[in-house]
Amino acid sequence: MSEIRLRTALSDELSAERFEELTRLCEAAFEEPFASAWERVGPGVHVLGEMEGHVVAHAMIVDRRIYLGHEADVALDVGYVEHVATLPELQGHGHGAAVMREIGGIIRDEYALGALATGSTGFYERLGWETWLGPTSVRMVEGERVRSTEDDGNVMIRRTSRSPADLDLRAPIAIDWRAEEPW
Ligand SMILES: CC(C)(COP(=O)(O)OP(=O)(O)OC[C@H]1O[C@@H](n2cnc3c(N)ncnc32)[C@H](O)[C@@H]1OP(=O)(O)O)[C@@H](O)C(=O)NCCC(=O)NCCS
Repeated sequence: MSEIRLRTALSDELSAERFEELTRLCEAAFEEPFASAWERVGPGVHVLGEMEGHVVAHAMIVDRRIYLGHEADVALDVGYVEHVATLPELQGHGHGAAVMREIGGIIRDEYALGALATGSTGFYERLGWETWLGPTSVRMVEGERVRSTEDDGNVMIRRTSRSPADLDLRAPIAIDWRAEEPW
């Protein structure tokens, strides 16, 4: 098995052809249409795992804000991880973990906290992510919070040296609304 080469790039730095390649990768991994998924989450920092010039694994970080506590009184700018995927035929060789370790390093250096939502908590736990145990909500434009019970148990965080020392994984957690998949 060839080694993968990790590359970091801002969304603006990726060509249309690169996005088409990433769309094919994510569609193969998630088995769902992905063409509009980039616009839905907005621009960010991508980590590409390349093998012989082709992207075989990917993850990205977008800037988002989350709110902690019963009164949602602690607001944190987080690095929110999206579109984590490895080509199905190359899964199980450590490529997803390699990309996520690079993502973890960026979060450690640049954010107060990392966050993501997933149905595969086991994959992230071994990479230092912790499952949020408290109730999840979406913070609407006017500031009111709407419970997102379907996401309870799927939200994970990754602490950094800038994270609040008294972070309580059982506290309520909310994220700013966005279309389709708020978390
Ligand atoms: C999840 C995904 C990115 C993992 O990529 P990968 O390249 O196969 O992962 P790795 O080979 O680096 O796996 C690292 C470890 O995590 C484990 N692992 C992989 N997927 C896992 C999962 N869904 N749940 C629990 N553990 C998992 C592997 O067994 C491996 O363990 P090991 O180190 O003991 O061998 C890949 O399976 C994928 O693209 N899935 C479809 C899309 C998806 O679900 N994305 C992420 C969820 S939002």
